Amino acid sequence: MMRTDSALIQRYTCSDRVNHWVVAITFILAALSGLALFDPIFFWLTNLFGGGPWTRIVHPYIGLLMFILFIGMALRFWSSNHLTAADRQWMKQWRDVIGKHEENLPQVGKYNAGQKYVFWILVITLPLLLLTGLIMWQPWFAPYFSIGLLRLATVVHALAAFCVIALIMVHIYAAIWVKGSVRAMTRGTVTAAWAKQHHAAWHNEISKGAK
Ligand code: HEM
Repeated sequence: MMRTDSALIQRYTCSDRVNHWVVAITFILAALSGLALFDPIFFWLTNLFGGGPWTRIVHPYIGLLMFILFIGMALRFWSSNHLTAADRQWMKQWRDVIGKHEENLPQVGKYNAGQKYVFWILVITLPLLLLTGLIMWQPWFAPYFSIGLLRLATVVHALAAFCVIALIMVHIYAAIWVKGSVRAMTRGTVTAAWAKQHHAAWHNEISKGAK
């Protein structure tokens, strides 16, 4: 089916978007409450959660909730994030990506290689955060572990949190940088022109399906 460039294409269903935004909100709350506990320089953030003791109480529950909601999102987007030879080529041509020379890049499917790496790093780091968080969780699980393991879990938890917060900052920057992406996650649709420019292989695929 031939589409005009301004025609709208569905990229996300309503439930995809609700799932994404509840993960995003719980992620931000987990990050802010975690930072508040991490260093005195961020202690003022405890005001957002009802003070120090409440921040300490709610942080693990928010993290657990975020993880459960993320499982739903990971299952939805799993099959669209398989890495291909074209993705490796796309990564090698990172100069063209930064310089916005998309015409030189291999045709991109539903997600580009950068988005896929964000997805897989989340799939690795979020379970690591959960596992180390459970080990440290007083008074429920921490008493079952040695002090050596508790120390290791604390360091790994902080490092994984640092990576994931930095990654999400890149994710948000990229979403704003590629104009027309945010509306995909707010309204669910993109224009045909956006799809052709940024995800040509995905556009071809869905155009064939619409014939
Ligand atoms: C809080 C601010 C956030 C903004 C503005 C944002 C924005 C977006 C946008 C616009 C898309 C659609 C991109 C496209 O279709 O090409 C997207 C997709 C996605 N977002 Fe977010 N996001 C945010 C937070 C998060 C968080 C906290 C997570 C996970 C912890 C997350 C995980 C994802 C995933 C997995 C996708 C699908 C892309 C893929 O599977 O590779 N986002 N986001």
